[in-house]
Amino acid sequence: MLRTSPSSVSAAAAGMANSDRVVLALGGAGTVGSGVVKALLDKGFKVAVISRDSSRLEKLRAFVSPNTKDNLTTIVGNVGSEEGAEQAKQALLKAVGKVTDVVSSLGFSWWQGGPPHTQTLKDLHWVIETLLFSTFVSWKAFFPLVRDDSNCTYTFITGGAGEKLLMPGTGFLTVGAASTLAFCQVLRDEYPEVACKLNQVKINTGVATPERMAPGYLNHLDLGEGVATLVERRNTSHSVFTLNCPADLKTILLERNL
Ligand SMILES: NC(=O)c1ccc[n+]([C@@H]2O[C@H](COP(=O)([O-])OP(=O)(O)OC[C@H]3O[C@@H](n4cnc5c(N)ncnc54)[C@H](OP(=O)(O)O)[C@@H]3O)[C@@H](O)[C@H]2O)c1
Repeated sequence: MLRTSPSSVSAAAAGMANSDRVVLALGGAGTVGSGVVKALLDKGFKVAVISRDSSRLEKLRAFVSPNTKDNLTTIVGNVGSEEGAEQAKQALLKAVGKVTDVVSSLGFSWWQGGPPHTQTLKDLHWVIETLLFSTFVSWKAFFPLVRDDSNCTYTFITGGAGEKLLMPGTGFLTVGAASTLAFCQVLRDEYPEVACKLNQVKINTGVATPERMAPGYLNHLDLGEGVATLVERRNTSHSVFTLNCPADLKTILLERNL
C-alpha cells in the first residue's frame, strides 16, 4: 500500500501500523477484557488472549467481529503462577512471534463475601491471588517483551474499589483492588524512564456487557474502544486515566490523550 501523508510515513518507518502490532490481552476473556479485545481487533490489531478456561476462549471467539477472527490467537494457560506464565509465554511467542503491547485486566468482576470477621485467610488469599499476584506475575513475565521499545505499551486496567468500601461486605474487594492500585503506583515510581508507554486506566464504576448494564455503568464495548484508542495512540506514559462515569470515556480517555 502507498503511504504519502507524513504521519503514515512515520508510522510506516516505525514499522508499526496496527496490523503490525500484537497485543497481549491478559484477562482478555473477561467482561472488561473482551470489550478491549473486540475493539482492538476492529482497529486491525492482532490480539492474543490467555485464559485458564478453554470454554471462555470459545465464547470470546464467537463474540468478536467475524471478519477479525483470524487475527485472534487464544492460548489456554494460567498467568497467575510463575511456571504457568513462563509456559504461556513460550506458547504465545511460538504462536505470534512477538508482542508489541500488553493490556492487563486480570481479576474478577465483583466480590461481596461479607465483613472481615466472617472471612477466612483462604478467602483473602484468593482475592489477593486473583487481583495482585496474577497482575505481578504476568507483568514480570511479559514486561521484558515490551520494556525497551518506545513503540510498545503496557496498560493496566484497575478498579476504584481500592479507595473505599463500595457497600457492606465488599471489604476484601477493597483490600485486593488497593493492592493493585499500589502495585501500579510502584511501577510508575520504580521505572520513571522506561521506554515502553506504561499507563493505567482506573475505573470508579461498574463495567458490564449490554445485557447487564445498570445506571452509571460503563458498557464494556465503549470502554474497549477507549482503551483500544489509548493503545493505538501511545502518546502518553506514566499516566492514570480515571473514569468515574460513561461521559469520562470521551473526555478523559479520548480527548485528554490527544
Ligand atoms: N467489572 C467491573 O465492574 C469492573 C469495574 C472496575 C474495574 N474493573 C477492573 O477490571 C478487572 C477485570 O474485571 P472483569 O469484570 O473483566 O472480571 P472477569 O470477567 O472475572 O475477568 C477477569 C479475567 O482475569 C483472568 N484471570 C484472573 N486470574 C487469572 C490467572 N491466574 N490466570 C489467567 N487469567 C486470570 C480471568 O481469566 P480466566 O479466563 O482464566 O478465568 C478472567 O478472564 C478487575 O479486576 C478490575 O481491576 C472491573
